[in-house]
Amino acid sequence: MKVAILPGDGIGPEIVAQAVKVLEALRADGAKIEMETAPIGGAGYDAAGDPLPEATLKLAREADAVLLGAVGGPQYDTLDRPLRPERGLLRIRKELNLFANLRPALLYPELASASSLKPEVVAGLDLMIVRELTGDVYFGQPRGIEIRPSPNGGSERVGFNTMLYAESEVSRVAHVAFGIAMKRGRKLCSVEKANVLECSELWKEVMIEVSKDYPEVALSHMYVDNAAMQLIRAPKQFDTIVTGNLFGDILSDAASMLSGSIGMLPSASLDEHNKGMYEPIHGSAPDIAGKNLANPLATILSLAMMYRYTVADLATADRIEGAVKKVIAQGLRTGDIWTEGTQKVSCSEMGDAVVKAI
Ligand code: NAD
Ligand code: IPM
Ligand code: MN
Repeated sequence: MKVAILPGDGIGPEIVAQAVKVLEALRADGAKIEMETAPIGGAGYDAAGDPLPEATLKLAREADAVLLGAVGGPQYDTLDRPLRPERGLLRIRKELNLFANLRPALLYPELASASSLKPEVVAGLDLMIVRELTGDVYFGQPRGIEIRPSPNGGSERVGFNTMLYAESEVSRVAHVAFGIAMKRGRKLCSVEKANVLECSELWKEVMIEVSKDYPEVALSHMYVDNAAMQLIRAPKQFDTIVTGNLFGDILSDAASMLSGSIGMLPSASLDEHNKGMYEPIHGSAPDIAGKNLANPLATILSLAMMYRYTVADLATADRIEGAVKKVIAQGLRTGDIWTEGTQKVSCSEMGDAVVKAI
């Protein structure tokens, strides 16, 4: 198996180094794994003037799976938009056709007190958010900033984006979400804003059409504003959520706090053949970058998702997740999940502990 390793920016290299240690431990144990590293995001811009250098994209295409850290940083925020790190990430998702982004939010029982919600609200939480990843207002045309006439007779700048979904885009992610719901609690909640947006109206119609193929799954619908509230009020009412690119981005960050920290949430971004890119849902955390403080567990758990979805080696996926459970049970915590009575460790110490537990 060949894995393209794209550390990216900020804490990216620190957290990816811990996942690489885990891959090396598996290799030392007999697994055939080849790794090749390439720059993306700000690192891509620094190395090749492009946040997704041609050679990085080629490597990602040739590899069986991609492991990504995070991209972005304040030093890149004034670049022309096409040169910004975030654009590199969006382009690799689009180029590899990774339209289905799986973001599970799971509470490890020992972390209940790390969540900002009451332990009884989050105890036993096991939620899957399926976020559409290659459409919506992220990619819709036209977009831009331009000068237009203003109501007072002069002119002014306007910024605009287009929220757009084709029915084929909605139906393919719907099939993925129904398939996942079938293997879970057979409850799928489609989240949109159909009371206001035509784009959401079509989304909802297509969800209902696709649901005919999955009579065992109970489909429900919720407006995104209510869904944000319900996720915090009573998150365990949800089993599987399916939603668009922008709503999924926002709701998954909110859901991460149910599991104790954004540093705990992994993700898989899949195409129709389950080829995938694996990355934590969080960003490059410039505030703690370079300090060996970041939580590497979301990245290590993303590796487990790689084994689950792309390699289809469930035993290894279980083994990685089991090692994470073990270090948490041992009381080891990076700063973001630290609570009184537990042992504070660095990013690299956490990586070492997982390797030992594996
Ligand atoms: P962020 O997720 O980077 O950070 C938000 C907060 O969470 C910060 O306080 C940070 O320290 C903390 N945090 C995040 N990951 C953590 C971890 N593993 N361990 C401990 N704490 C962690 O979001 P932001 O600050 O809004 O964005 C920073 C940069 O990252 C921006 O350039 C943004 O565009 C980019 N970004 C990239 C991705 C990605 O690569 N997938 C995702 C989100 C944001
Ligand atoms: C994420 C990030 C990205 C997104 C940004 C950095 C482009 O927030 O992966 O959640 O919005 O998809
Ligand atoms: Mn995000």
